[in-house]
Amino acid sequence: MSVLSSQVSLDNATPSATRLEPMVQANAVTKHVPTQEGELTILQPISLRVNAGESLAITGASGSGKSTLLGILAGLDVPSTGDVILNGTNLSQLDEEGRAAVRAQNVGFIFQSFQLLPGLTALENVMLPLELRGDKAAQTKAKEFLQRVGLDARLHHYPQQLSGGEQQRVAIARAFASEPRILFADEPTGNLDSSTGARIIELLFELNRAQGTTLILITHEERLAQLCQRRIEIAAGAIVSSKE
Ligand SMILES: Nc1ncnc2c1ncn2[C@@H]1O[C@H](COP(=O)(O)OP(=O)(O)OP(=O)(O)O)[C@@H](O)[C@H]1O
Ligand SMILES: [Mg+2]
Repeated sequence: MSVLSSQVSLDNATPSATRLEPMVQANAVTKHVPTQEGELTILQPISLRVNAGESLAITGASGSGKSTLLGILAGLDVPSTGDVILNGTNLSQLDEEGRAAVRAQNVGFIFQSFQLLPGLTALENVMLPLELRGDKAAQTKAKEFLQRVGLDARLHHYPQQLSGGEQQRVAIARAFASEPRILFADEPTGNLDSSTGARIIELLFELNRAQGTTLILITHEERLAQLCQRRIEIAAGAIVSSKE
């Protein structure tokens, strides 16, 4: 309930000018990959705009193209045709290095597969992106976010010593700690029990509220989709429904 009521106050408190500024824009983005059976279409032309401070849920069946779309919107993957404009920068004009720079400045990403570095502890995994940005308070911030996801007793564990849900929470703390303008999350509560999931959802929307973080989330969870201002459903690589 607290998350819901604060969303209402966000709507009243945020100036409309802020909300109309596009944070991510996809123009007729497609994805085709060569396979042994010929060319496979993963995404049909998708156009989409998400304004600064908005929250968007992406839903759809397994294999419909959700993770592929999210990776393209975040500049981790490139579309076959079409382009993505992220916080004013057209990613199609950049090489991998240029896209990495735009991501480092703007983007937090919580992967479906966590993508923690196995040779680094939980604390070091969360500190890494902060250190790469030259943040002198990296350790303090990393500890704070690990505490917020309930992992203060696991700071020095390596990923293989953590459960799936704990690894997911380290990945979440890592994405939150760099305070990105836009946070992409691929089923952020997929491996969590419902009370831990509820805490993570509260944290997501607290960032959205306090820092105006734009949220783009893939989820199968109705309670999470409902908290987002908008939702789109993907089927066979196309947007089949869009709700405010
Ligand atoms: N590099 C690739 N080569 C061939 N096929 C691919 C490739 N990447 C994705 N696919 C296929 O594209 C489809 C969409 O994949 P994607 O991971 O985007 O689905 P999803 O909607 O995220 O599914 P899930 O809910 O299971 O995570 C799948 O059928 C997948 O097998
Ligand atoms: Mg997926």
